[in-house]
Amino acid sequence: MMLRRWIATGVVAVATVGVLNAVPAAADRPYDPAAQTLRTLGLRHGLYIGTAVDMAALNDPADPRYREILRTEFSSATAENVMKWEALEPNRGSYDWGPADQFVAAAQRNGQRIRGHVLVWHNQLPGWLTTGVEDGSIGTAELREILRRHVTTVVKRYRGKIWQWDVVNEAVSDPWDTPSTLHYKGFWARHLGPGYIADAFRWARAADPTALLFYNDYNIEAFGSGDPADDKTQFVYDMAKGLLAQGVPIDGVGSQGHLGTQYGNVDTLQVADALRRFARLGLATAFTEVDVRSRMTDGVQAGDPEEINPRLQASAANFHVLLQACLAEPRCLSFTVWGFTDRHSWVPGWFDDPPEGLATIYDEDYQPKRAYQVMKADLIYAGPPYVLPRVAPKPRR
Ligand code: XIL
Repeated sequence: MMLRRWIATGVVAVATVGVLNAVPAAADRPYDPAAQTLRTLGLRHGLYIGTAVDMAALNDPADPRYREILRTEFSSATAENVMKWEALEPNRGSYDWGPADQFVAAAQRNGQRIRGHVLVWHNQLPGWLTTGVEDGSIGTAELREILRRHVTTVVKRYRGKIWQWDVVNEAVSDPWDTPSTLHYKGFWARHLGPGYIADAFRWARAADPTALLFYNDYNIEAFGSGDPADDKTQFVYDMAKGLLAQGVPIDGVGSQGHLGTQYGNVDTLQVADALRRFARLGLATAFTEVDVRSRMTDGVQAGDPEEINPRLQASAANFHVLLQACLAEPRCLSFTVWGFTDRHSWVPGWFDDPPEGLATIYDEDYQPKRAYQVMKADLIYAGPPYVLPRVAPKPRR
């Protein structure tokens, strides 16, 4: 059955490739997979390759390469910022849909599946909301109602257009937080208690019966000690299992995949094991924000190859670990990078002390880096019996 399905997918993929390939394959000129895009190669496995989209870059007339690579290399898109609450409702009660609508229209024109990001998060909230709660003018009951309305309004507006929604983002603390025992952190847990998570999924489902509803977080690539007190992956796993047991309509867990070459990180088998364990709960998974940053040492900044090359290679190796693990798990539906070029990456602006960068798969001049080639090879040299077509779950009611 699996094999038959794979063969069928293969036939479709080869036919598609035939259509998309500018120079058709012939006996003396065989099909060249390296000349294909990530987008085409991913779809051979039913895997969507996505990127975060920076609206300023998208709209910059002087930057046509950005639009070209976005359109050709990616089959999925995520708004980097314009679907966040502060962007959508800067003033209470008046939504500014312009940029988010423009993002959705552009993705649709490109034939890309959209990951909606993000409904409930403690960052990038509008000032009126955080101030109102701080000064006591917005009480608990009103806050819950404001959240319900926000989730409902946004999901309804894009109903039928969003493939996966990040319903709740980064709800769990890290071992370096205080207290160090893992707990539900941030604005929403503090003011509404952790019950907001189940509520948000239910509100999102009521507003769109067809989107896949995701919980999204970082540092959950692999299991650690297995103790939810200090193993964030275990904490999130237990949370998801608990939500399912309560009948909450959660369909997937997104692993952001923000890594750095200065860390030990994880290996493919550990990551594949984590994805498999989530899959066994009946959940889809996805890598949602992958980038692998490096320290911009004096040597890197001066262009010293002995400093730069090991970092580019380590970055590529980490993209490889996450992508290969995703390929190995049929319920891993998409692999999204958080920006595709160092020209437009959040890393230098965000991690500046000490400075970090080089986190994406194309350099600042849109030259593909080692990481891009490694991703391509991963997509090319994969197939049965260990890499099978994707299996998407039905949206849970
Ligand atoms: C980041 C954006 O890339 C930046 O442009 C913005 O200034 C801050 O947010 N986890 C998430 C993303 O879920 O929304 C964040 O995006 C990166 C970390």
